[in-house]
Parts: sequence; C-alpha cells; structure tokens
Amino acid sequence: MSKLWGGRFAKSTDVMVEEFTSSISFDQRMYREDIAGSIAHARMLAKCGIISAGEADTIIEGLTAILAEIEAGHFSFEISLEDIHMNIEKRLTERIGAVGGKLHTARSRNDQVALDTHMYLKKEIRHIAGLIMDMQQAILDVAAKYPHTVMPGYTHLQRAQPILFSHHLLAYFFMLGRDFNRLQGVWEHTDIMPLGAGALAGTTFPIDRHYVAEQLKFSQVYENSMDAVSDRDYIMEFLSFASILMMHLSRISEEIILWSSSEFSFIELDDAHCTGSSIMPQKKNPDVAELVRGKTGRVFGHLMGILTVSKGLPLAYNKDLQEDKEGLFDAIDTLKFSLTTYASMLRDMRVNENRMRQVLRNDFSNATDMADYLVKKGLPFRQAHEVVGKAVAYCIEHNKWLMDVTLDEFKAFSELFEADILEAIKIETCVDARNSYGGTSSTQVRQELTVAQNMMNKE
Ligand code: ARG
Repeated sequence: MSKLWGGRFAKSTDVMVEEFTSSISFDQRMYREDIAGSIAHARMLAKCGIISAGEADTIIEGLTAILAEIEAGHFSFEISLEDIHMNIEKRLTERIGAVGGKLHTARSRNDQVALDTHMYLKKEIRHIAGLIMDMQQAILDVAAKYPHTVMPGYTHLQRAQPILFSHHLLAYFFMLGRDFNRLQGVWEHTDIMPLGAGALAGTTFPIDRHYVAEQLKFSQVYENSMDAVSDRDYIMEFLSFASILMMHLSRISEEIILWSSSEFSFIELDDAHCTGSSIMPQKKNPDVAELVRGKTGRVFGHLMGILTVSKGLPLAYNKDLQEDKEGLFDAIDTLKFSLTTYASMLRDMRVNENRMRQVLRNDFSNATDMADYLVKKGLPFRQAHEVVGKAVAYCIEHNKWLMDVTLDEFKAFSELFEADILEAIKIETCVDARNSYGGTSSTQVRQELTVAQNMMNKE
C-alpha cells in the first residue's frame, strides 16, 4: 500500500520495519475517537474558512461511512498503513477522492494521537468510575447482610482482637473511595485538549482550538503546543491510580484466598467463581482472587514502563511515545475485568459465621480487653499488660482459654478481678466496647455504613 508520507522516499519500507513500527494492531481500538476527532477538526477547518463548508460535509459523510464500515467489521486494517490515523485517512480518500486529503490540514499525527488517547481515556475513566462504585456497593451489601458477625482481627497474621466482619469489609470500601477520588484527579489532567499543536509548534493556519475543545467536550486546551504533543503525565497518573487500586484488590484477594482455605474456612466462594484441578478431584481453587493478585504485577509494570520510556525523551514527539498505549490499554482491560468479577464474587460468597465465632472462642483475642478491665479498676496499663501476660502464660500451660478461667484463678493474678470480668471478656462485649470513632463496635459500624451509603449517593 502506498504511503501517505511517501513523497521523499525512493525505496519502499522493509517489511520487517513496517511490522516493527506499526501500531495498528493495538491503536485500532481508538477508531471512534479518531473519527470523532477528525469530524470536529473538519468542522473547525470549515468554520475558520480553511476548507469550504461543502468540503467539510463531504469529509464528514466519508468519515461517518467509515465508522459504519468498521463497526460492521468490513474495514480492513493494513499494517503497511502503520496506525489508525493513516488507515482511516487513506480509506477516506479512497471513498471521497482528493478532497479527503484536505482533512490533515493544520494537523499532525502527533497532536492527533494525543487527542485520540485523551478522548479514549476519558471514556474509560467514566466506565471505570462506575465499576468502582459497583464494587463498593457489593461490599456495602455484604457488610449490611452480616451486621453482627464477629471474626478475629489480625496483626502480623496473628489473632489480635475480635472485630465485626462488616468492619473488616468496610475498610476496603473506604480504600476504593480514595481510588475513586484519585480517578477524579486523573480526569482533570486527561480533560485537556491537545489538537492544534500540530507536529510541535502550532500551525500557520488560522485555526480555533477552543472550538474543537467545545465540540469534543474538553474543559481546557493545552497552553503550550510542545507540551501538548509530549505530555503523557495523564497516562502515568492513570497508571498510578490503577496500580494503587490493583494493590487494594490484591490485598483483598490475599484475604479471600486465606479465608477460603481449609485452615481458615471463614468463607466459601461460589462454584461459579472457582475452578477445579485436572488431577485432584477434591480441589476448588479461588482462581479469580489469585489472578487479580497476579495481574497486579503487570499493572505496576506498565506504570514503570511509561515512566521509563519518557524519562530521557527530549521534546517534542519521539516515536518512543507510541509505547504509551499497550500498557495503558492492558491496564484498562485488567482493571475492568478485575472490578467486574470481584463485585459478583463478593456478592455470591458464603460467610461461615459459626466457624469465625468458634475460632474466637478458642483464642486469646480478648486479652487486651482483660488488661483494659484492670486499667478501668485503677491499674496503670503497663502493669495490667504484665498481669494479663502472666494469665495467658498460665492458660497456655494449663491448656485452657481466658474464658475458661474461674474467678478464683483470676484473683491469683490480681485482687482487682471481680465477677464482672467474665462478662468483660466475652466476644460481643469486646467488640462493642470498641466504641471509639471509627472503631469496630456495632454502633460505630452502623455509623460507618451510613457514611458509606452517603458517599455512594454523592459519587
Ligand atoms: N502511531 C503513532 C503513535 O502512536 C502516531 C504518531 C506518529 N507520529 C509520527 N511522527 N510518526 O505515537
């Protein structure tokens, strides 16, 4: 296929070079943005008297027909035409003749690809924001379904203090809330319109960049043409946001995987969200959670990739920048898949309330409460800690739990123990006593649920 830039070349491009430099295999997904951007550009050229209204109409009709061809699967993308921009432009002149060649007036692929990528990312940001909210809603629904379910809370993966299961889940709700806010920040820098920067320095034609921005619903226009074609900050910001979000999903994945193991047995994932083993008939594996945890790595990698690609680049456009898209697209796909599968997996999981309660019955998670009890009777905390530590050691030696100790035995450790100690170290008492703001008591968790619901209504 003859090149749109063939004029100064005497030889045709080496086939390997064509394949190596071409981006059509991945940038074809921006065809809608490319066409919408071209239509806005054509309208602007006509409005500014750079092409005639009739020419603009012919171009726009041609572009609209090409859009239909692509959507119908009738468009043949050519590697020899390098990228989505030249594939569409070439087809345009095939369809409408030489007037198609006027579309690229006052434009370069450098500002064109930047425009397409900005538009594409804006569309995906909207979509991903919705998916974050869906997952937040799934967390809220599960938390609301188990308002009184207790479980051990961990530090160092050692049982620490009893908590409400809903409190644990809601921690992820608020993480995702910050991810949502970060995404709004990414939007701000994505919502800047680069077209009209030309190759790098602007253009000799009397264009109206603000008119293009207005048509394409951008709230700002790049102030500097060189910045407009060189900037990939918005992609880095998106990938930073994506990395943090994936890190959150990876953490919850780790918990889901642990909780669904026979050792924990806190939850059971629905069959629909698990896979089996080709050799071990008994297996039911939490693959979704494992894959989300695993895919976090590639998203981190894409962030590192674009940072590294950009770090030594002189202004303005360099072909290196074509490397910005595959990582971005892959991160978008990964996020969308992960968020969608997660929301339904959480909704359908079974929570083994009895198992979590039983685990709490047989551990020392109430030791802090015992120390707090002594403090409330006047003992300095450090001494109370020591006393309870000794009581725990005694229990370990005699093979019992704090709840099995009699009042007489307790008294041997401190005279301050009275009959009410037995009530004070019951699981429900321990949970509900943590009534400080943001704590795990049922009152606080009810309040959290309200705050969370209000956030959803605002988002
Ligand atoms: N396919 C190119 C990219 O993705 C489009 C811009 C090409 N510009 C150029 N001067 N070769 O970056």
